[in-house]
Amino acid sequence: MRYILSTKDLKLQDVENIMNLSRYFKEGGKKEVKASALLMFMEPSTRTKLSFERACRNLGIDVFSIDLSTSSIQKGESFMDTIRTVEAIGMDVLIFRVPFTLFPEKELINNTKVCLINAGDGANQHPTQALIDLFTIKDRFGDLKNLRIAYIGDILHSRVFRSSVHLLRMYGTEVGVCGPKTLIPSDIKNLGVYHVWDRVEEAIGWADVCIWLRLQRERQKEQFIPSERDYFNQFGLNKSRYEKVKYFMHPGPVNRDVDIEGDLVYSEKSLILEQVKNGVFIRMAVLSYVLQSRTS
Ligand code: NCD
Repeated sequence: MRYILSTKDLKLQDVENIMNLSRYFKEGGKKEVKASALLMFMEPSTRTKLSFERACRNLGIDVFSIDLSTSSIQKGESFMDTIRTVEAIGMDVLIFRVPFTLFPEKELINNTKVCLINAGDGANQHPTQALIDLFTIKDRFGDLKNLRIAYIGDILHSRVFRSSVHLLRMYGTEVGVCGPKTLIPSDIKNLGVYHVWDRVEEAIGWADVCIWLRLQRERQKEQFIPSERDYFNQFGLNKSRYEKVKYFMHPGPVNRDVDIEGDLVYSEKSLILEQVKNGVFIRMAVLSYVLQSRTS
């Protein structure tokens, strides 16, 4: 496959192949991939951008980078034209993060030979983060069938949630959500999620793993919550909730004392740094997987 724009592009076999390749890299396996990659990040990012860059370098991929202020999208160039330009300059893969939802995907794909990896488009998709979280959970629990995962917080604006729910459902994992009613998508049942709580204690009691999501202030055009203090009191991970939680994750960046109490971020039950470490292996796997398509 030449692109990963959404987790819906992936069949179970693709996901399994990516999981196995990531395991190979995590265990010290090596691979050389002769290619060039462009990282185009039009939104802030630390871990995603850096781990893609690290992954490229680990594979011997020649990596270039532009951001919002240096890209011609700033001057009104369309995303399609940017892709054509990147292709003409001879890049093999474009890894992009954009502040809008991508469409129409078919046109995008049919019109380019460049491999495309979505590193986050608006509130829509972030497939590699979903693969990281799946891998991290698999690492800890082995079997995913009937495992219970609760997402807590700003579900509405989370591209990580939208990408993950599809993968987890593939494996027969049960997914629940908890957050203020204003931050739960109205189509939640269509995504295969039937557990919806507004008491975080219920979500914690139910789940094998709780995944807190960042309150995405930058995507909130109106006031979705009374205040961050109220939000933390009702939905945040504090010390008394920590006693009851089994494991917890967060794709980052964490809003300390809003999503999770500062002292708990890297505590014993936290898998947050595991997620970050696994990010490099997953991205090495995804890059070598899509770049294989050039010869097959
Ligand atoms: C997420 C993102 O940017 O979508 N973070 C990440 O990539 N690790 C989540 C977020 O911004 O809240």
